[in-house]
Amino acid sequence: METTSEAIWHAAGREQTAELARLLAEWSRPGTVLALDGDLGAGKTTFSQAFAAAIGVKAVVNSPTFTIIKEYEGLAMPFYHMDVYRLSQEEADELGLDDYFYGEGVTIVEWARLIEELLPPERLELFLEHAGGDARVIRIKGIGEPYAAWCEVLNEMGEQKNE
Ligand SMILES: Nc1ncnc2c1ncn2[C@@H]1O[C@H](COP(=O)(O)OP(=O)(O)O)[C@@H](O)[C@H]1O
Ligand SMILES: [Mg+2]
Repeated sequence: METTSEAIWHAAGREQTAELARLLAEWSRPGTVLALDGDLGAGKTTFSQAFAAAIGVKAVVNSPTFTIIKEYEGLAMPFYHMDVYRLSQEEADELGLDDYFYGEGVTIVEWARLIEELLPPERLELFLEHAGGDARVIRIKGIGEPYAAWCEVLNEMGEQKNE
């Protein structure tokens, strides 16, 4: 059994969503996998754009809905951005997702739940929810290390904020 830990991030607006993305970008290493879920417009691509900027991607990051996977050059490592909403089993086999997950870069998967059985067992899951206007609640689950430990750090940060 993998160690798991959970955290909640309250974003009052885009800037706080970006703040979480920057934190996670700082902690990311080659092979890091972030699994994003949440309704259309919840902010998965917005989060991914802030993350990409934080790891030094200079290119414009768009939603890869039709291409499924886009590769970007980051400063320290590549960034693999997936949107698996339209991914078929056949395409998944052809693309060889493991080459990305266990590759040189960091991967973000939008609509990750749709391919849950293809995801690596260790990953950070982020579930984005509308919370009125520009507010979002981001439910985070770290499965395995280092992701469970990341949740512990996020929880400590939250406690300090509330003191
Ligand atoms: N706190 C927030 N976090 C993320 N996006 C936000 C936030 N507040 C407003 N937005 C807006 O909501 C929309 C989210 O769209 P997008 O990131 O494409 O969602 P998704 O990829 O989940 O479908 C964008 O227009 C973004 O500017
Ligand atoms: Mg999107």
